[in-house]
Amino acid sequence: MNERVLAVNGGEPELRESFPDMFHWPVVTREDEEAVIEVLRAGTMSGTDITRVFEREYADWAGAKYGLGTCNGTAALQEALWACGVKTGSEVICPSMTYWASAASVVAMGGEVVFADIDPVTLCLDPGDIEHRITGRTVAIMAVHYAGHPADMDSINAVARRHGLKVIEDASHAQGGFYRGRMCGTLGDISGTSLMGGKAFAVGEGGIVLTDSRELIEKCMLFGHYERLGHSQYAQASEKLTACPEYTRFIGIPMGGVKHRMNQTCAAMGRVQLKYYPERCAEINRAMNYFWDNLSDLPGIRAHRITGDGCSMGGWYNPRGLFRSEELDGLTCERFCEAVRAEGVRSIPGTNYPLHKHPYFTSSDAFGRGRRTVAEPEYLPVSENTAGTVFTLPWFKHARFDIIDRYIAVFRKVLTNYRELL
Ligand SMILES: Cc1ncc(COP(=O)(O)O)c(C=O)c1O
Repeated sequence: MNERVLAVNGGEPELRESFPDMFHWPVVTREDEEAVIEVLRAGTMSGTDITRVFEREYADWAGAKYGLGTCNGTAALQEALWACGVKTGSEVICPSMTYWASAASVVAMGGEVVFADIDPVTLCLDPGDIEHRITGRTVAIMAVHYAGHPADMDSINAVARRHGLKVIEDASHAQGGFYRGRMCGTLGDISGTSLMGGKAFAVGEGGIVLTDSRELIEKCMLFGHYERLGHSQYAQASEKLTACPEYTRFIGIPMGGVKHRMNQTCAAMGRVQLKYYPERCAEINRAMNYFWDNLSDLPGIRAHRITGDGCSMGGWYNPRGLFRSEELDGLTCERFCEAVRAEGVRSIPGTNYPLHKHPYFTSSDAFGRGRRTVAEPEYLPVSENTAGTVFTLPWFKHARFDIIDRYIAVFRKVLTNYRELL
């Protein structure tokens, strides 16, 4: 037994060095820079030629029939919602514990968010908490693959099928991750994915819609990409409405009233990133799995990961650990993280703020509809208690095991000596 005084109690910190190269992201090479400069010199930032190539390549890689590049992930989700028929009065079931855009996009469409709880192991929408929330106004279910972990899509799709609902995936945390042999973002009717600079797949600011449905992708173009269909000074019409010709008369003005076009410098960077992303993801997987494999004998913490059965974690966006206080004589997650930080590794308790408790949803009326956004905020125990059950950990980008060992030693030291913290 490795008994040593923890740094939080005055002992020597385990890790005094920092290794910024292990965490720096995205990897930008001369190839990215040249691709961006080419767009700048050509003066085609507002065009769509490069974006169309990028979205074709991204959709082929993901295994989707259609891809549509957007200015950000929120725009991609709004297009997906509108394409699925979400409008004034519609209800969409969404996990409470996610980034705000998954839910606030519903409000922007005039719809109402019906929050559901998450599963304590996947941290994604709990399929058992959906069905009793369905009403005559429910149009869609929003499934978020939280922190790289694929949601239980077979169960979610089954509920949706039983009730004739659409499934929209928010794949912003799971680019390149797989669920039962298919890539996240291709598992429901349509998906929206953020590609902003902090994500595993990062292009600066950007997003992408993926779907196999011609009708849905045309509706996404109608909503935010008027230039694809005609009447733009920047781009020639590249598409015809074949699945929903009845909308032809609206061409020229985006149905959402806002332009969602991707800046082509981002699309150009995206093309280069895509070339290397699978191998970079594979390296992140080796690094993160090595970290967790070497902690699996310790009580109190569990990996938030999925392996086997054609499933994977993609780029492990903002990885989390699951904390089990009951295995550590009631030690709190907050105290555990404090001890880890004192040893030299940044770790904080919790996840995103549970949205059903946020004043934006409980008391604002952003669009003057005369009522708050959530009809009746209720208790969602798993979403509300993640500060006690989940913690952040280093997001290693490189499989440099000698360095990762140093981080493993920190967690081992804290957990071996946890009684000092009680
Ligand atoms: C789960 C999730 N959905 C949607 C978004 C919105 O994407 P964007 O910031 O590109 O609009 C983000 C993050 O930014 C996110 O983390």
